Amino acid sequence: MNLKTVEKNFSDTFAEIDLKILRKNFLKVRKHARISNKKIRICSIVKANAYGHGMNIVAEELARCGTDYLGTADYTETAELRNYLDSRKLNNIPVLCLGLVTEKTKLLEKLAGKNVEFSIAGINSAELLNRTAEKLNKKLTVHIQADSGINRTGFHLSDVYEGVRKISSMKGLKIKGIYSHFAMSEIPGNAYSKKQLKDFKDVTKNIENNLIKFELRHISNTGGILNFNDGYFNMARPGISLYGFYPDEKRVRQRIGIEPVMTLRSKIKFIKLLDKGQSISYGRTYYTEKRTRIASIPVGYGDGYSRALSNRSKIYVNGKLYPTAGTVCMDWIMADIGLKDNIKVNDSVELFGRNYPAYKLAELTDTISYEITCNISSRVKRFYI
Ligand SMILES: Cc1ncc(COP(=O)(O)O)c(C=O)c1O
Repeated sequence: MNLKTVEKNFSDTFAEIDLKILRKNFLKVRKHARISNKKIRICSIVKANAYGHGMNIVAEELARCGTDYLGTADYTETAELRNYLDSRKLNNIPVLCLGLVTEKTKLLEKLAGKNVEFSIAGINSAELLNRTAEKLNKKLTVHIQADSGINRTGFHLSDVYEGVRKISSMKGLKIKGIYSHFAMSEIPGNAYSKKQLKDFKDVTKNIENNLIKFELRHISNTGGILNFNDGYFNMARPGISLYGFYPDEKRVRQRIGIEPVMTLRSKIKFIKLLDKGQSISYGRTYYTEKRTRIASIPVGYGDGYSRALSNRSKIYVNGKLYPTAGTVCMDWIMADIGLKDNIKVNDSVELFGRNYPAYKLAELTDTISYEITCNISSRVKRFYI
């Protein structure tokens, strides 16, 4: 289906997800990760609906192009993904859930016999998982989550050794991995990240020398892969780079040729001619400086196009950028398209994508590209090419 057919069959506003680009990004990221360790495994992070790109289809594509693992944020996502992968005969790709189990739930019991691996950040949740496993007469595979400095979740580094010692004696659990997470890996050479890396490595080595060996040791997200690659670790967990962005566009030292996977498209639905001095949209925050045409596009904060972009963002139409005009509404934005260019109703609009990357919108609203794509709401259809 070409773009014209897509536009006919879909609602005016849709997110185009280019799976070819996803595949290329995956291969580029893996190639880079392999610089430090040729056998490194990749756990592709597909949490939060694959950063807004659609978890199941994205995960399937990544599985087919060689990801070793898929990473989710919680057990609801995990269950959905596991069911989908199994229905696509991808039972062999494990799903590592980065979220935590703190209560007994039916979901947990359902996941117990499946190819799912659990994160453990404390002894209580280990005991809970162990009880569940013993009750079901199953063994659960777990990764120890160690907090080396993000201070979010995970065993404090000083408690990891003792935690592993206790967990390794629990009959229902099999420890497969140990991992940590960086707080500032997007900054090349950052001293805090170096310290996290060293401290986590020291603790892990000590456990490996005295207690048990881990099949998997991992710390790197995209920033880690780009800036703190270390061959001691044998798995990496990239997220944002798979979708075509660097974690911080301004701090990239080395580009690896990734490109945005998502393009948010819409079309011009209405054009009006206005005299100088007319206000546009709610709150009258934009006034025409001269006689001009204002185009209306059916996308707004209801689709995840932030209201904070009002009078700041641009749209890309027929090879050119035009400024948005006035406050972003729930279902509409307006743009000042001037008088000269040949722009008509139904012309295609790129709200972000290759010609106007999502990180530009992120910069305008003091956020990161992650939030721009994650926020694209469920009413926006995802179309895969
Ligand atoms: C624990 C963990 N690992 C890996 C990632 C992937 O990070 P990135 O998208 O920066 O590559 C995340 C993302 O937030 C995460 O929370």
